[in-house]
Amino acid sequence: MFKKEVYIDRRNRLKKELGSGIALFLGNVDAAFNYDANQYHFRQDSSFLYFFGLDHTGFAGVVDVDNNTDYIFGNDVDMDDIIWMGEQPLVKDLAVEVGIHATEPFDKLAAFVSGAMASGRKIHYLPPYRGETYIALSELLNVSIKGIKNNVSIELIKTVIKLREVKDSNEIEEIEKAVAIAWEMHTTAMHMAIPGVTEQKIAGTIEGISLALGGPVSFPVILSMDGQTLHNHYHGNTLSKGRMMVTDAGAETQLHYASDITRTVPVGGKFDTRQAEIYQIVLNANIAAIKAIKPGLKYRDVHFLAARTLVDGLKKAGIMKGDTNAAVNAGAHTLFMPHGLGHMMGLDVHDMEGLGEDYVGYDEQTQRSTEFGTAYIRLAKTLKPGFVLTVEPGIYFIPPLIDQFKNKGKFTDFINYNKLENYKDFGGIRIEDDILVTETGHRILGKPIPKTIKEIDETMSYRIG
Ligand code: GLY
Ligand code: MN
Ligand code: MN
Repeated sequence: MFKKEVYIDRRNRLKKELGSGIALFLGNVDAAFNYDANQYHFRQDSSFLYFFGLDHTGFAGVVDVDNNTDYIFGNDVDMDDIIWMGEQPLVKDLAVEVGIHATEPFDKLAAFVSGAMASGRKIHYLPPYRGETYIALSELLNVSIKGIKNNVSIELIKTVIKLREVKDSNEIEEIEKAVAIAWEMHTTAMHMAIPGVTEQKIAGTIEGISLALGGPVSFPVILSMDGQTLHNHYHGNTLSKGRMMVTDAGAETQLHYASDITRTVPVGGKFDTRQAEIYQIVLNANIAAIKAIKPGLKYRDVHFLAARTLVDGLKKAGIMKGDTNAAVNAGAHTLFMPHGLGHMMGLDVHDMEGLGEDYVGYDEQTQRSTEFGTAYIRLAKTLKPGFVLTVEPGIYFIPPLIDQFKNKGKFTDFINYNKLENYKDFGGIRIEDDILVTETGHRILGKPIPKTIKEIDETMSYRIG
């Protein structure tokens, strides 16, 4: 946990922004894995963590803006819990650690909420994402489960995003710890990536590193020779020479800040000519995009800069042709990179995505496109100092997508489909880093993880099986 002043300040800023009403934050509860007493590793809700810091199951936090009072509702453990879990601090003592002096048993929350509603006060709440939270909100607010999403507070969503999107120095330090763990995960994956080793063995090993050095992985590990599938969680292949391995993996720190790094390496460590050519194009896009990042720039413009770099490279490789700007304006690059350049990162790996991607990634001046590929941009809006985001360009050779575009006669001015046939067995490449937007530009977070062809070659000449 951070110092209590951090949480007091966050709640005070929330009150100032919101102006009136009550903000209700339901923390998460334990979730059953395969029977009630066997549970998933507990993960607290990120907005609850941000404002209340307490990493405990079954709590609710309330910010009463009108009365300038913050509450924790939660139950002290009973003897049964103590027998199984050991002695636990009292709720009132936990609350003091985050600057809260008003605590109540959890079952008092219903009367508190209904009393406030009866006196005409607005209850602000965020969109839930777990069934348990839907049910709890439905009961507390006397709204049907279906009605819960329709009554979320847009004001609260916007306020929470305004606060959480700008990271302070404590948060940056945590994110750098998460990247340091990712360094261990990715360099280990590189050392292990030799023919005959299974993807599962490497994926399991690096997930263990995350747990050993911080917390769980920040999202399920993506590790595959079939990197053309963007979020590939199948780890059933045995690595073979001539293929590349995409590893997209990050860790959570003990305070639940995330990292999200992707590296792509040739199995065995030596790039062949074709791999080196495509890899260098993606690396150029990654470097050009990072170099451009500064406050005041729309991230969508950085996305298109990366897209132009990819097209320039693919033209040199003979896979694309024509005018680069015209190709990007037409959307021809989306055959190779049908996703956005990156997303916000913080307490969630796709930070605050549960609050609504359009609220997090777009602003009044930046509206979402409806075009294939460009519509998937998660972050498009104007950058501000304190934003932490990912830069993750890729080139993917997705055979069914290639066939579909070709059969529809799409982008024939820009794509050399004959040449492209030779790449259907290639897979994909993504290179992803975590970046802080500073007052004057940007900073790549954490200890650099091998990224150039030379660095990867050198790193992979040391092997563990
Ligand atoms: N973790 C998937 C991504 O890179 O966004
Ligand atoms: Mn990633
Ligand atoms: Mn990412």
